[in-house]
Parts: sequence; structure tokens; C-alpha cells
Amino acid sequence: MGRSLKYEIPGVDPRVALDEWAEKGWSGIFGTVAGSEPRSRVLEIGFGRGEFLLDLASSAPEVEFVGVEVSFKRTLKMARKVARAALANVRLVEGRAEEAIRAVPEPASLDAIWINFSDPWPKRRHAHRRVLQPEFVAAAAAALAPGGHLYVATDDVPYAHQIDEVLSAEPGLQNAYAPWPFVSEVKGRRQTGYEAQWREEGRPMHFFSYQRRGAGASDG
Ligand SMILES: C[S@@+](CC[C@H](N)C(=O)[O-])C[C@H]1O[C@@H](n2cnc3c(N)ncnc32)[C@H](O)[C@@H]1O
Repeated sequence: MGRSLKYEIPGVDPRVALDEWAEKGWSGIFGTVAGSEPRSRVLEIGFGRGEFLLDLASSAPEVEFVGVEVSFKRTLKMARKVARAALANVRLVEGRAEEAIRAVPEPASLDAIWINFSDPWPKRRHAHRRVLQPEFVAAAAAALAPGGHLYVATDDVPYAHQIDEVLSAEPGLQNAYAPWPFVSEVKGRRQTGYEAQWREEGRPMHFFSYQRRGAGASDG
């Protein structure tokens, strides 16, 4: 196999630039008719090797999924998997979560945002690199439709404390697991690639679920 073939996509390339998504909107990148029947829209941040996104998207062809991943290599590999599976309902954005969340077109349009096992950056001097920060969470709340969910999972105890603090302080969100800050098992939840690895190592699981307040939310 020639070197250049490494970058070939075996089918339709699902990658879109962040600017293109922000400008064209959901219907623009999915090629659907703007203003036609509303479709469910879901974002996954940091999809990694993509097992979770592939599983979600193949079981819900009527839902539009956008996956955001900072790694060029992981985005390329995932693009190949999406093309091979001929999943027309997935687009991939190579970029930083912090930028992508502010660029989500049509605010209040998302039904769900998934952030699974985001890097915990355990060293104190690196903690500012964690994705779950107040500004990020405020932008995520603004991107969600009323009643839409922000799902976060981590195996890291200090990061779980930070996530609890940041999510519970966001006025646009309410804790779907209240009075508990998180749960350690969610029946029927799909496993991610990293999760399988962490479970084998016996690491603790923390699953958060927050819902966007407003009309459509379970208790307004
Ligand atoms: C620990 S892995 C988890 C991957 C996957 N979600 C899972 O659970 O198997 C974290 C992923 O987030 C990506 N990532 C880290 N920082 C990011 C950022 N600021 N924006 C988008 N993706 C990021 C990494 O490249 C990596 O693929």
C-alpha cells in the first residue's frame, strides 16, 4: 500500500470544518432541508477511538450526530470507520471542545451532549486544561434545547469533584440524579473504549446527568 493511501477514506468523508458547521448549520452539513421536520441532534466531545459514537449512531439513524475530537489521527481513523459503516447521520469535527461548544449552530438545538472520560490532567499545574470548566459548561447549557441532557462520565475522583462543583453551579442546568451528585452505574448504558479499560483496572465510575432547564425539562 502506498504511503498516500493512509489518508484515503473508504467512502464518503464525514469530516467537516468547524467554520463550515457554524456557518451552514445542521441542515447544511447533513444535506437536509432547513425548516423541515425537526430532527434530534446529539454531540459527543472527545470521541477517542469512537466505539460509543459508532454504536449510538448505528442504533439511531434518524438522529444527527456530530463528534468533536482534538486529535487529527483519531479523527482520521474515525472518519474511516464511519465511511466503512456508511453512517449518513454522523459528521466529525477535528477541533477543541472549548471552541466547538461556542460554535454550535442554532443555540438551544441539541438534545444531548456526551463527554466520556475526558482527560483528567491530574497534575495541579495542568488542571486548567480540563474541559469541564464553568465557561465551557455555560456554553454547553446554552447549546442544549430545553429538556436536553448533558451526560458526563469520569473515573478520576478529583476531576469528579470538580465536575460536580461546576455542573451544580450552572443555573441553566438541573441535576437529573438529585439528590445524588452522580451515580456509579447506569443500567443499559453503552460502554466506551476507555471505560472498558478503566473497569478492568477497578477504577471507580462517576456518571453525571444534567438537564437543560426550561419548557420541555422534566420539572421546569
Ligand atoms: C481519555 S480519552 C476518552 C475517549 C472516549 N471518550 C472514551 O471514553 O473511550 C479523551 C479523548 O478526548 C480528546 N480530547 C482531549 N482534550 C480535548 C479537547 N479539548 N477537545 C476535544 N477533544 C479532546 C482526546 O484526544 C481523547 O481522544
